[in-house]
Amino acid sequence: MTKNRKYFVCTGCGADFTKWSGKCMSCGEWNTLVEAEAPSGKKKKSELTVFPLSSVSRENLTRETLSMTEFNIVCGGGIVPGSVILLGGEPGIGKSTLSIQIAAELKALYISGEESPVQVRERAERLGLDASRIQISTNNEVGEIIEIARKVKAGLVIVDSIQTVYSSDIPGIMGSVSQVRESASRLVDYAKKNNVSVILVGHITKDGSIAGPKLLEHIVDVVLYFEGDFSRDFRVLRAFKNRYGSVNEIGLFCMTASGLEEVREKNRIFLNPFKSSAPGNAVSAAIEGSRTILFEVQSLVTYSSFSNPRRMADGFDLNRLILICAVLEKHVGMQLNTFDVFINVSGGFNINETAADLSVAMAISSSLKDSSIDEGTGFMAEVSLSGELRPVSQVEKRVQEFRMSGFKRLIVSMGDLKKAKEAGEGIQIEGVKTISEAINSVF
Ligand SMILES: Nc1ncnc2c1ncn2[C@@H]1O[C@H](COP(=O)(O)OP(=O)(O)OP(=O)(O)O)[C@@H](O)[C@H]1O
Ligand SMILES: [Mg+2]
Repeated sequence: MTKNRKYFVCTGCGADFTKWSGKCMSCGEWNTLVEAEAPSGKKKKSELTVFPLSSVSRENLTRETLSMTEFNIVCGGGIVPGSVILLGGEPGIGKSTLSIQIAAELKALYISGEESPVQVRERAERLGLDASRIQISTNNEVGEIIEIARKVKAGLVIVDSIQTVYSSDIPGIMGSVSQVRESASRLVDYAKKNNVSVILVGHITKDGSIAGPKLLEHIVDVVLYFEGDFSRDFRVLRAFKNRYGSVNEIGLFCMTASGLEEVREKNRIFLNPFKSSAPGNAVSAAIEGSRTILFEVQSLVTYSSFSNPRRMADGFDLNRLILICAVLEKHVGMQLNTFDVFINVSGGFNINETAADLSVAMAISSSLKDSSIDEGTGFMAEVSLSGELRPVSQVEKRVQEFRMSGFKRLIVSMGDLKKAKEAGEGIQIEGVKTISEAINSVF
């Protein structure tokens, strides 16, 4: 690219273009292209190096672990020295809270670009952390940050947030695409060359006016996103990318006045805590990375006053719900066309597995029949368009989770029966062929 030439970058996918257009030709998003400037610095001639892979030391791969095992799990076993982690999430979700907790535990250098040292200290005190373990700086020029990290010999640098860091070497305002990209790549370069871990905190913006962390995903090693429902206190930390571990791992936390606490008894959040025996509830198991989570589907089926009855799903795919309703009408003979059907997954959990199909169908049936399902009964099967039940993945793991949580009876598809029985000693396991068979055996 020639000196100081302008170009345009998509804040959604990071693709760059020489001309502006309303729609990104790479990802198809609208209004995501923003102007950026190419770095003007002269390219240094670098030394040519080549060596056998076997000569590379493996010593540096010992991971640094935290007392929060949930965080270690999401990172694939802990923080790999020299790795760069991007911690993204909506404003106020708890990124700074988690960062400061990590900083205190691992004696990190904390670069606070958004909050004053007083605010950070106040938070650290509220969380009951030892403030003397944290080195804090409010410098936000990337060169200066690196210099400070060198000076204090930091093993971990936490930058909160990357949008507040700029590089004086290149033009553009703080938070612009080129600034964020350049600052992040210089920090990545520093991390790799000095074996220092870096955590970059990044905001997700819906309108793309500030360079979003999406742009950085390909240059960092691990991408973690904080999700959660603000009306509830629990937070899910999800790994979207991990060069050192499996993705789709989740960590469960609870936001309290004394900071983020890990949720150990994870099933408690998603299962019925009051042991109510109201009709319309059914329990299933979801696989999230290396763990299994039991969750409850709640359903409400009521007479509809509309000619087009309503279907609403919270935490479950709406189209899948419509499909399950259609299967129940056609193959079970339920007259759902005069009823509104509402589905909710308890605890604000999001399910995107077809293994939950049977529990959704059973919750709907339970609400329509006004007859509750016995506590301690679990369901897992995919519902096909023909009304037959299909096997699910990793059935053994799900059965084990049910068994450990004290469930007494499981309804699975015929295809899963053998495997489920092997894993579920002591539980009554029934294999059924179709959805109507499942309904008949429960009600
Ligand atoms: N005294 C308190 N008691 C309980 N929870 C609190 C308290 N103070 C703050 N919180 C929680 O901390 C959250 C803010 O966390 P934090 O500042 O870490 O978020 P953030 O993701 O860094 O936000 P931002 O994007 O604005 O920097 C609040 O939404 C609230 O849930
Ligand atoms: Mg913050």
